Amino acid sequence: MASGASSSPPLSVLSLAAVVVLLLAARGGARPPHSLRGVRPLAFDEGYAQIFGSSNLALLRDGRRVHLALDESTGAGFASQDLFLHGFFSAAIKLPADYAAGVVVAFYLSNGDVYEKTHDELDFEFLGNVRGREWRVQTNVYGNGSTHACREERYDLPFDPTDDFHHYSILWTSQRIIFYVDETPIREVVRTAAMGAAFPSKPMSLYATIWDGSTWANASASH
Ligand SMILES: *[C@@H]1O[C@H](CO)[C@@H](O)[C@H](O)[C@H]1NC(C)=O
Ligand SMILES: *[C@@H]1O[C@H](CO)[C@@H](O)[C@H](O)[C@H]1NC(C)=O
Repeated sequence: MASGASSSPPLSVLSLAAVVVLLLAARGGARPPHSLRGVRPLAFDEGYAQIFGSSNLALLRDGRRVHLALDESTGAGFASQDLFLHGFFSAAIKLPADYAAGVVVAFYLSNGDVYEKTHDELDFEFLGNVRGREWRVQTNVYGNGSTHACREERYDLPFDPTDDFHHYSILWTSQRIIFYVDETPIREVVRTAAMGAAFPSKPMSLYATIWDGSTWANASASH
């Protein structure tokens, strides 16, 4: 299946450098830090736990880098041990360079485990593509179980996300949500009264996962 093919899994490896979680003090007009310098990334053992994928999750560099692999039987993923209400969440991510049609990599906040029908969620979702074509990234915003206020949005990355690590960040305050690719804000959602609960407002955990979404993501990934 993987072109250029090794017979052994993993087919796809996501390298995720230490996930940085910086909680912003609740202050009006909160901005993301100017740079991530001075922000201490949390090592895996300090703040995260594996949620699936057994040996498809591997820690490197004293837990400051995480490799998530996808093979024929499973993907892999981890979640923060804490729930967060607002903050600046950032991960340096390098996507798998091998054949990746149908692969879905996600870096997201969610409380779907706690609120089954009325969950909140903020996602970066990377939809794997056929070799030679670009990965697509989309952002999603769910509030109280619905995407009513803000649908998914696609963004064309101006670089090859498999070449190197890039920072993907989510700023979430009580008044706005901003998605960043490196230093560039690519989407902003400002809270309005009309949104009501459709603006995410309950504590969420932070997740990173890789999984096979071929039946789910094909239509968008391969055209
Ligand atoms: C969230 O959604 C549920 C189910 O649709 C609804 O009953 C509830 O009133 C909503 N919460 C708010 C704060 O609007
Ligand atoms: C998705 O792609 C896979 C691999 O190319 C293929 O086997 C599968 O049938 C496709 N699924 C759909 C729903 O098109």
